[in-house]
Amino acid sequence: MKRFASIVSIGAYAPPKILTNADLEKMVDTSDEWILKRTGIRERRIAADNEAASDLGVCAAKIALERANRRIEDIDLIILASLSGDFHSMPSTACVLAGKLGAKNTPAFDLLAACSGFIYALSAAKAYIESGMAESVLLVGAEAASRFIDYSDRSTCVLFGDGAGACVLAATDDPKKAVIDVEIASNGKKWDFLTIDGGSRSTIQSGGAPYIKMKGHETFKIAVRIISASAAAICKKNGVTSEEIDHFIPHQANERIIRAVGTALGIGEERIVLTVDRYGNTSAASIPMAINHIYEEKRLKTGDLMLLDAFGGGLTWGSALARFAG
Ligand code: UT7
Repeated sequence: MKRFASIVSIGAYAPPKILTNADLEKMVDTSDEWILKRTGIRERRIAADNEAASDLGVCAAKIALERANRRIEDIDLIILASLSGDFHSMPSTACVLAGKLGAKNTPAFDLLAACSGFIYALSAAKAYIESGMAESVLLVGAEAASRFIDYSDRSTCVLFGDGAGACVLAATDDPKKAVIDVEIASNGKKWDFLTIDGGSRSTIQSGGAPYIKMKGHETFKIAVRIISASAAAICKKNGVTSEEIDHFIPHQANERIIRAVGTALGIGEERIVLTVDRYGNTSAASIPMAINHIYEEKRLKTGDLMLLDAFGGGLTWGSALARFAG
């Protein structure tokens, strides 16, 4: 009998501090009108001074564990996706999170695929479960991206926000509860489109500040084409028509990108999940936060078919088709 990975719960946490477009108008030469028109963002959340990515992740993970009716002892792998981990490189944020959750000897590792982190981590979790190497996986996307923002750079500071999302995946033999397929890809020739300095390359080059830098317009131009093609390909490969998709839940970088991809795929407005207005771009956390949003609004039902997609630094991108089994 074939073994599948199944998303059995979802949880999310957004820190309470809100940074509005009006607040940003006082910090840089920007306007609420520009931000709203170009990105769809109205406000974003900012982690408290004593909160790092792991702290946000722990809050989301506790909700996901409780909703899955599982204790941390029941989890045999933790994967955490982030571009704004607690430490530069060591220890992994996954280990810090595991410690805070009380995990004992549970393998835990970080996965870096920038804004595509959740989709990449989902593909890893799926492979671990389908191969029999794990029965249940805690997957967390957690970002304290604001720590890597230059709040004098209007081209980036209006975009990013903090938050975390988590889900528990478990083995099942029921295809109606399965993560059906995950496709991931990269193009390292365009690594310089989105960067955060501070690694070993910084000593080779000029020694840049550890801020998110983005060739926004160039990224925008290829994002729509690449994500649309990726999402269309995974649907075609699995014989899924756009009418069958209950929820299109893309990475929340820019409302214009999301709507353009939705139109290209022929997915009606009412099935496109948008949270970018309230959280901005929360990178690897944005998809699980968006799934949680419709779960808490009671729009997400057991068995619903979700189409997920993401695009980010690397460049990386990917799509997933999954039925919700919570
Ligand atoms: O999540 C990972 C992947 N990331 C993405 O997918 C993000 C992709 N990029 C984008 O979402 C968009 O490119 C942005 C929202 C970042 C920018 O929108 P755009 O329509 O591509 O604008 P632009 O960069 O071409 O800039 C247009 C103008 C420029 O002024 P000039 O040269 O026309 O005079 C910018 O200097 O807007 C200016 N500008 C701003 N004006 C007011 C840039 N940022 C701002 C700002 N407020 N915050």
